[in-house]
Amino acid sequence: MYLDNAATSFPRPDCVHTAVAEWMRSDACAGRGSHAGSMAASSLLQQCRTQVARLLDVPSPSQVVFTSNCTDSLNTVLLGLLKPGEHVLATMLDHNSVLRPLEFLRQQRNVHPHIVPFDPVSSLLDADAFQKVLRDFPIRLTILNHASNVTGRVQDVQLLTSIAHKYGSLVLLDAAQTAGHHDCHMNFLGVDFLATAGHKGIPGPLGTGLLCFRTGADSQVLPLKFGGTGTASESLQQPESTPEKFESGNLNVPGIAGLNAAVNWVQSETPARIQQHISGLTELLLNGLSTVPGLRLLTPMTPRHLCGLVSFTIAGIDCREVATILDQSFDIQCRAGLHCAPLAHQGLGTLQAGGAVRFSPGPFNTTADIQNAIEAVSAIASEVR
Ligand SMILES: Cc1ncc(COP(=O)(O)O)c(C=O)c1O
Repeated sequence: MYLDNAATSFPRPDCVHTAVAEWMRSDACAGRGSHAGSMAASSLLQQCRTQVARLLDVPSPSQVVFTSNCTDSLNTVLLGLLKPGEHVLATMLDHNSVLRPLEFLRQQRNVHPHIVPFDPVSSLLDADAFQKVLRDFPIRLTILNHASNVTGRVQDVQLLTSIAHKYGSLVLLDAAQTAGHHDCHMNFLGVDFLATAGHKGIPGPLGTGLLCFRTGADSQVLPLKFGGTGTASESLQQPESTPEKFESGNLNVPGIAGLNAAVNWVQSETPARIQQHISGLTELLLNGLSTVPGLRLLTPMTPRHLCGLVSFTIAGIDCREVATILDQSFDIQCRAGLHCAPLAHQGLGTLQAGGAVRFSPGPFNTTADIQNAIEAVSAIASEVR
């Protein structure tokens, strides 16, 4: 039983498998020729950009850039935007895909990161500290984690973005844990950059990611890669228009075919229904796990404000051992450890102990799965006592 959809989605809808397999058999190479396969690939990319723009409320399909994962999308903005000496606001809830590029920029470009804490009970960002950083420093970029991959809490991004904008900061949203199964609407939230994966809430193949720009914000970011785009080949200069500016080299067309099928699948199931299903399972998990003696929930009891994951520790047993027992004795696959988010665990007081166990149900899990998971955890906890 797979409960690790926050890492990557599994199983994926059949239409995703079919789409990838079909494109693997074609001669498609988008934007690189006038033969039918190439034209079909170009049209697929256009279709997928249009579908993504619709799903994520991106101002225009041309502002949707294909990347290889959410890390790639985040790095593109961080490394392509921030200049020597500039200040940046990030938070303790951020993933290493934000924290490590920032550490690199601190060391190599003298960029100044200001890391805002969160409340370990509600998992909400400290709004006073957030505003103080923006008031005290000329923040060029604010990075917001839409939902923590450790606690699952969704932040009030619309409000935080309006505060950041008031102080003249651009906003980059890490929507790795929300796109596809939670309200994730770029225009509505007001952010300048939205980075996400194509293989989590949107159940596309691994190796797919998305970077979306507010119209105009793309001109402030330098690309990380330069090269052939299949357009304006007479010029030695990188195209200035998005998406070509950020898409040098052949794209992962089979992966994007799977991504396109995944986005279509989400639209036909409807994001609202998927969210309702996952949120119901999350609530069951929270209610069941909260009654297990010796168990500490790191996820707040606010199911409607969660992205669909629940983390916990059990007194007296290492979280990695719990995950191994769950896998080997109960056939339950989950994720244990620090989840690439060391500062989140520091804030929760679980860093030294090696982190927590995380369950993240997906659209194909059932209430029976959740009941089994709760019983397995209860059995492990009672064994420890
Ligand atoms: C909040 C958050 N940001 C970024 C990432 C990185 O995503 P990817 O593996 O697609 O690079 C993850 C992955 O789990 C995540 O949870």
